[in-house]
Amino acid sequence: MAVAEPRAERGATAAPSPALIEVRGVHKLYTVGSQEVRALDGVDLDIRRGEYVAIMGASGSGKSTLMNLIGCLDTPTRGSYRLDGLAVERLRDEELARVRNRQIGFVFQTFHLLPRTTALANVELPLVYARMPRGERHELARKAIAEVGLSERSHHTPNELSGGQRQRVAIARALVNQPSILLADEPTGNLDSTTSDEIMELFDRLAAAGKTVILVTHEDDIAEHARRVIVMRDGKVISDRQQPGSRAARPTDGGAIEANAEPDPDDEAADAESVVGSGADEAEEVAAVEPAQGDSR
Ligand SMILES: Nc1ncnc2c1ncn2[C@@H]1O[C@H](COP(=O)(O)OP(=O)(O)OP(=O)(O)O)[C@@H](O)[C@H]1O
Ligand SMILES: [Mg+2]
Repeated sequence: MAVAEPRAERGATAAPSPALIEVRGVHKLYTVGSQEVRALDGVDLDIRRGEYVAIMGASGSGKSTLMNLIGCLDTPTRGSYRLDGLAVERLRDEELARVRNRQIGFVFQTFHLLPRTTALANVELPLVYARMPRGERHELARKAIAEVGLSERSHHTPNELSGGQRQRVAIARALVNQPSILLADEPTGNLDSTTSDEIMELFDRLAAAGKTVILVTHEDDIAEHARRVIVMRDGKVISDRQQPGSRAARPTDGGAIEANAEPDPDDEAADAESVVGSGADEAEEVAAVEPAQGDSR
């Protein structure tokens, strides 16, 4: 059995906390024709609340499969996954969706925004699913848009926005339900290096504020932002190290380290408040009925 992250390390921080994400002996097998693909082949992983993690590895090594599992978009073929103490692999689909909506915000390489819908309405979508009253919904979406620095563009549609601005909208949508965990699968994969830097500053800020941030990247300079780097190969974790000199931990970022030492109290509130959330799969569902959705400006 592979060795999990050493528990003793918890004692090294001021406030030891139980793992938010606990992956044990996880396998994910796909059968394609007569061929069996081991997308995940015995993964053990603990991630604590407030960690800032980069997952790296060659194409096909299982990064997205692991992210989908952590994000409750998928369940393992074998092994267990506990999210905040809850045994996710035992949940039925609708329970899985509820947990996902409450705990997880997803950001993708290709943004996954509804094309003919304003930035504000895109951000509101998860709250529409939560059947939140319109006024409250607007208020929260406006706050999330402001948080990513896009208030002045909130009535623009995605094609009226730059790539970086689109990704900011997607991040605002991921944040609008105040999830505990922000998952980003190659969030800078479609962006130039200057725009990537801006997006990474945003992730750094969110991590500094106590959000648990897990991102997949192929780029070393993107991974340098995280405080922990996990490398995968052939469905296995082959390296897992802390980087004390991560970009996010540098003093120029205004005391990011101290800010991240404590779990975000907002996360607790979010657990209680949020009902339905920010999965991109939902956005896709809405995309299918978009003309009926309209612009909820
Ligand atoms: N739905 C599926 N059906 C069959 N095989 C799959 C499926 N999803 C993923 N795989 C296979 O599982 C393995 C891991 O895929 P995954 O998408 O997790 O890789 P990745 O590390 O994210 O790669 P990339 O860097 O290219 O995004 C690959 O060999 C892939 O072909
Ligand atoms: Mg992938």
